[in-house]
Amino acid sequence: PGSREEDESGKGLKVFDPAFQNTAVAYSKITYINGDTGALRYRGYPIEQLAEKSTYLEVAYLLIYGELPSKHQYASFSHEVMHHTFVHFNVTELMRKFNYDAHPMGMFISCISAMSTFHPDANPALAGSNLFIQDERVRNKQIYRLLGKTPTLAASYNVPQNNLSYTENFLYMLDQLSEKNYKPNPKLARALDILFILHADHELNCSTAAMRHIGSSLVDPYSAISGAAAALYGPLHGGANEAVLRMLEEIGSLDKVPVFLQEVKERKRKLFGFGHRIYKNYDPRAKIIRKIAYEVFDVCGREPLIDVAMGLEKIALEDEYFIKRKLYPNVDFYSGLIYKAMGFPTDMFPVLFAIPRVAGWLAHWKESLEDKESKIWRPRQVYVGPSVRSYVPLDLRE
Ligand code: ACO
Repeated sequence: PGSREEDESGKGLKVFDPAFQNTAVAYSKITYINGDTGALRYRGYPIEQLAEKSTYLEVAYLLIYGELPSKHQYASFSHEVMHHTFVHFNVTELMRKFNYDAHPMGMFISCISAMSTFHPDANPALAGSNLFIQDERVRNKQIYRLLGKTPTLAASYNVPQNNLSYTENFLYMLDQLSEKNYKPNPKLARALDILFILHADHELNCSTAAMRHIGSSLVDPYSAISGAAAALYGPLHGGANEAVLRMLEEIGSLDKVPVFLQEVKERKRKLFGFGHRIYKNYDPRAKIIRKIAYEVFDVCGREPLIDVAMGLEKIALEDEYFIKRKLYPNVDFYSGLIYKAMGFPTDMFPVLFAIPRVAGWLAHWKESLEDKESKIWRPRQVYVGPSVRSYVPLDLRE
């Protein structure tokens, strides 16, 4: 469309690949996905094994540092993260300034961004050297702070308790106002821990690509993570868990599913929680999540919308439209039902995705900083606007 102006600048072959559907932009040792077989591995370990045997903080260590930690490394890492859980009082004040009905994800993104002003040691411009950010101790400090403080931000600054596990502490902070001496139910803490493991990384999805892109300018990691979290917020990405629940509530009952799916096929509606750029098979995370849902229902009571979700899945998977396009449930399809059963408000769901994804964003940030070949990201475009023309003063324009 339009007039196409040839651009002769730059070297080499240019590839036109809208939405990066076929473009690899980095070598990475972090996460492997095979979309045809539905395989997902962190640093070589299958997601099924990690979900069954590991903990979120151990997985965070694995993603960020490349190997499972020794006992000593794990104790030291947990200690550091859990002793960086307090946030500055002024950030607490900032959180209080939002409107009463502000979306928690908007508040979360803003407060992470604000954190960059409280930690100038992470800012290469202020530190006077790009090498500063590549100092391992400085980098680790930001890793501990971001892993430690993001659950506290999400829990609106209730006071953390650092002798609890990562997810126990998060549940503890959330319930602090409602009950004195609240002790998180171990089954729910474990269920949330598994959900955190499943959400910890997923190679170069929209938000992680944003993290690498923003980070490639060598900005501080708080600014980069707020940008990555903004990309996650959208309903085609991490905001889909919230959109799924609103969609299931709107459908309301099993008998309304066929009419809804017909509208999807007529492109009047979107079936949130279905489809994936990479998976053309069942998302392995969705399989695990579906199982956890029942374990959570045993404790919290059955969430009735699960019947609508299961019915919708069954009908969709037998329908030619979805079969032809290889559309399966993704990670967001069932996660919201678990969060709802656990009592989380619907608009908190994207934040519950963002907290564990911080580990993945940090792993990619660290990997790209350590890559001696890495450069600032700068994609090209194909210019299709007007050819050169002369400026016309305002009073001579028609
Ligand atoms: N509902 C209905 N049709 C769909 C859906 C869906 N959820 N997803 C894809 N399709 C259709 C498209 O209309 C297209 O059909 P066409 O070939 O007839 O035009 C075909 O399937 C291919 O889909 P694309 O849009 O090309 O797939 P893309 O890789 O660009 O998008 C995405 C992937 C954004 C995830 C898409 O499937 C979607 O919008 N899903 C719903 C939102 C969602 O659940 N997002 C969470 C993803 S997981 C995550 O980010 C954590």
